[in-house]
Amino acid sequence: MVTVGIVRETHTGERRAALTPEVVSRLRQFGYKVILESGAGLGAYFQDTAYEEAGAEVVPSAREVVKRADFLIRLHMPEADEIEDMRPGQVLLGILQAWRYPERLAQLQKQAVTTFALERLPRISRAQSMDVLSSMASIAGYKAVIVAAERFGRLLPMMVTAAGTIPPALVLVIGAGVAGLQAIATARRLGARVEAYDIRPAVKEQVESLGARFLPITLEVDQVEQRGGYARELPEEVQRRQREALATYVARADIVISTAAVPERPAPRLITANMVEQMHPGSLIVDLAAETGGNCELTRPGEWREYRGVQIFGPLNLPATVPIHASQLLARNFESFLQLFRQQGELRLHFEDEILRQTCVVHDGRLFPFRAEDVPA
Ligand code: NAI
Repeated sequence: MVTVGIVRETHTGERRAALTPEVVSRLRQFGYKVILESGAGLGAYFQDTAYEEAGAEVVPSAREVVKRADFLIRLHMPEADEIEDMRPGQVLLGILQAWRYPERLAQLQKQAVTTFALERLPRISRAQSMDVLSSMASIAGYKAVIVAAERFGRLLPMMVTAAGTIPPALVLVIGAGVAGLQAIATARRLGARVEAYDIRPAVKEQVESLGARFLPITLEVDQVEQRGGYARELPEEVQRRQREALATYVARADIVISTAAVPERPAPRLITANMVEQMHPGSLIVDLAAETGGNCELTRPGEWREYRGVQIFGPLNLPATVPIHASQLLARNFESFLQLFRQQGELRLHFEDEILRQTCVVHDGRLFPFRAEDVPA
């Protein structure tokens, strides 16, 4: 019987669990054994007893899970000493952000651990149910607006009162991918006026269908998309023109939610200190790209700061602040990914499947290329 294991995630601020009792129970029905470290679900309010009732075995130490699991699911790249305990042929899967940890990858390669980095899932319809990035981006986009609204010294909706009328806030969303679209929808629900911008003109219709205005910025760049529908990294000269074009819109916004990202690359720098200086006091930026360097030059990862009356926040893991639903979505994503192996009845890696091929970063002591465009067809 194949054993799937999860441990208590130790990353700072992490409260999500990779499996929920609901998913454990289904994995059991599919014939998997599930083992977890005691307390692995507590951050998301899932008790050991709930996992046990669902058919999991709860053990006291992470080490025991790491040693016994055939499939180890992690929400972050494991630490070096954890990898040390892993064995050849064992399967590690998770949101590993593999491109940021070359030394750990080398270690996984040395240990011959078969490693799947789910952030590299191809954006195809068959992979949608496994798409951890989309699930988490939806939560992050929603929560970015909620934290902004909470901190903002004004109201978001228009309010007509006996003491006067308050106009709606103007929210600018930069980057209208999964997180950006969810931010637009949330800001609209709270009654704000919303403007949005993305390098990919294809999203204009989606932005407008959510009741936001798509900014009329054209850059005359030949190709803005790379394989898989992702934006590509723009040359510095184009980024400069982009900043110039964005400056007026940033200056007049009350709240800026920036989500612009390029897979496996540092985030594009779209908001300079000079642009922040043009914003009015009391305005606010939530920079969802903080983890990969930030869209705003002044962002400090993980911190709120104030710069000339403008508050700037660079959250590092907003989905962890919504641990119950984030865990529920993640667990279903992982369950769906595990189905790829089950089709063979037993633990078998069939690399003819595009999804396994593209997400695999280490197998059989070999390291696979990291950039999406390098993956062999
Ligand atoms: P992401 O997180 O990689 O990037 C966020 C947004 O930033 C993207 O919309 C991107 O175009 C934008 N961006 C990048 N550089 C920029 C710049 N310099 N200026 C302004 N905006 C910039 O993207 P996400 O949300 O992961 O989506 C990527 C693509 O995948 C989209 O086309 C999305 O529609 C597609 N997708 C497809 C799915 C499927 O299963 N078919 C599922 C989810 C997403």
